[in-house]
Amino acid sequence: MHKVSIVGAGNVGATCAYQIAAKNLADVTMIDIVDGLPQGKALDMAQCGAIFDFDAKVEGANDLSALAKSDVVVVTSGIARKPGMDRMDLLKTNATILKDVSAAIRKHAPDAIVVVITNPLDVMSYVAYKVTGFPRERVVGMAGVLDAARFRRFLAWELKVSVRDVNAMVLGGHGDQMVPLPRFSTVNGVTVTELIPKDRLDAIVARTRGGGGEIVKLLKTGSAYYAPAGSAVVMVEAILKDTGHMVPACAYLDGEYGYKGIHLGVPVRLGREGVKQIVELKLAPDEKKMLDTSAEAVKKGVEEVVQFL
Ligand code: LAC
Repeated sequence: MHKVSIVGAGNVGATCAYQIAAKNLADVTMIDIVDGLPQGKALDMAQCGAIFDFDAKVEGANDLSALAKSDVVVVTSGIARKPGMDRMDLLKTNATILKDVSAAIRKHAPDAIVVVITNPLDVMSYVAYKVTGFPRERVVGMAGVLDAARFRRFLAWELKVSVRDVNAMVLGGHGDQMVPLPRFSTVNGVTVTELIPKDRLDAIVARTRGGGGEIVKLLKTGSAYYAPAGSAVVMVEAILKDTGHMVPACAYLDGEYGYKGIHLGVPVRLGREGVKQIVELKLAPDEKKMLDTSAEAVKKGVEEVVQFL
């Protein structure tokens, strides 16, 4: 059995652990500084195995040395947004946390693949990449799967089709400048630009961009977790099973799409070595311009975070 460690046993971390165990994908260790929290949630999940028929081991720990022998480490630790906050408002607090966690990953799980979920996602992925010193294919952030899931859900509602019929692509940073791409989004092969009038499509793109904030506003005390956790599990599964699944994810760019030295959401193929390939789509000038704006916002975050590293 593979081992997946999840750092942070809050809503995202625990939901992620539960979904991995319930799918029997791997044994799971949840690590959190709060005494008893990961242990209690782990025990509860293990007992759920008797109800839903899974034997994956679920354990809780308080010390990052429990990362040892992980195939994949999912990093969820950090604070979440409150209403009115931008993801970048979390930068300083979460960078400090990510720095410690990344150093522990380097020490205890030097061969692991790291999937970052902590916000601001693109900047935190960069922190994990820099501090672990791992090759770039082994540090990837989760956001594109989530943003594309939201886009797919809204498109399916608009067209009254099953969400399974809808494929969608969202590039760029996981922020308000993200770039949903209608031209690369289809319903059973038909581009959504042929199916939805422009004003409706613009509204769906805007709702996708604000998808996380819409939930923060409703919850008032935190941010989304079912879909964020599920999106990370899709990536973990592709990695462990070496499927080559192509998803938008946050990867370190070294010239791809014309950017260097930042993590940004782009289509990648995932497998046992992490990011197998970065796929370069042929963007139209207006799409590339939007991606430039998003990349610029991420670059600013990276320039700000280096002082905390
Ligand atoms: C969201 C937060 C978790 O998009 O980034 O829901």
